[in-house]
Amino acid sequence: MTRGSILVTGGAGYIGSHTVLQLRARGEQVVVLDNLYTGFRQAVLDTPLVVGSIGDPEVVRATLRDYKVDTVLHFAAHTIVPESVRNPLKYYGNNTCGTRNLLECCAEAGVKHFVFSSTAAVYGIPPTPYADESTPTAPINPYGASKLMSEGMLRDLAVATPMRYVVLRYFNVAGSDPAGRIGQSTREATLLVKVACEVVVGKRPYLSIFGTDYPTPDGTGVRDYIHVDDLAAAHLDALSYLREGGESTILNCGYGHGYSVREVIRSVERVSGRPLPVREEARREGDPPVLVARADRIRSTLGWTARLDDLDTIVRTSLDWERKLLNAPW
Ligand code: UD1
Repeated sequence: MTRGSILVTGGAGYIGSHTVLQLRARGEQVVVLDNLYTGFRQAVLDTPLVVGSIGDPEVVRATLRDYKVDTVLHFAAHTIVPESVRNPLKYYGNNTCGTRNLLECCAEAGVKHFVFSSTAAVYGIPPTPYADESTPTAPINPYGASKLMSEGMLRDLAVATPMRYVVLRYFNVAGSDPAGRIGQSTREATLLVKVACEVVVGKRPYLSIFGTDYPTPDGTGVRDYIHVDDLAAAHLDALSYLREGGESTILNCGYGHGYSVREVIRSVERVSGRPLPVREEARREGDPPVLVARADRIRSTLGWTARLDDLDTIVRTSLDWERKLLNAPW
């Protein structure tokens, strides 16, 4: 049986582009669909790129047909939590309605396998610091809600059609391609590791620590930081799992242990070799004190193993990329 190609939506974005590199290295046929709203043409290197939106049925249908797609990895989304609070319909429009359109076209075209980028934001502020896949979903912002709605559509579609899926719920993704080809180029970044690296290279004067009075060992928020290359590998493992006949499933993507903001700062100082200017500020609204994955299921279901589970490696690859961006901005 000949294998179809893989459509990667959002493949010019941060996590999508790292996954495309790994797919290509494995010899997969890949086409990227990206509207370049936050993605970068350069990030796909020489992979075929269709510039268009997941919400445009003509573009999606034509891409699925022209490239004989039988598998979709769906990364395309808006991802900035505070923006989703200010402009919820932008998030429901692109993330939820866009995904609905994509799924409809996929069902029509007989796409067999679907891997969906979801988020730990579906758990909101979980009752326990560790979230496993059966922790009740209770998003506290439109971003998380928009992703949870997409999970629901996928679940119901997989009952009604032969399509099978893996939903991957990402925890805190950071780091960049260790070979330095691509990285996180997001403008107006809000994520801790990226922001801290921007301070090191002089793009920002200081790092704000949002909250020092949390009930955590050092008073700052604790998160499960996962290297983007390990996360990308989880997508390839999910794909192999589906091809081998695996049932539809939902999996957390994290390492299963957390670091505080101060621990991240110390890592940045170790890697950069100098003190990081910080300002202690009030808690940021909507931040849980601790959010760490129970990550046993992804290991047992996919056979996924972490290769870059080391905070200094995460920070070093992020900082290398930030320095590169300084000299050759995207
Ligand atoms: C990120 C994701 C969210 C996901 C979550 C999983 C985005 C926009 N958010 O949110 O969807 O559910 O991971 O855990 O992708 N901090 C500072 N100063 C800063 C920035 C952050 O002190 O300048 C602190 C925050 O208060 C938090 C920690 O660092 O304690 C991580 O924050 P951030 O990197 O923004 O990610 P999350 O808010 O956890």
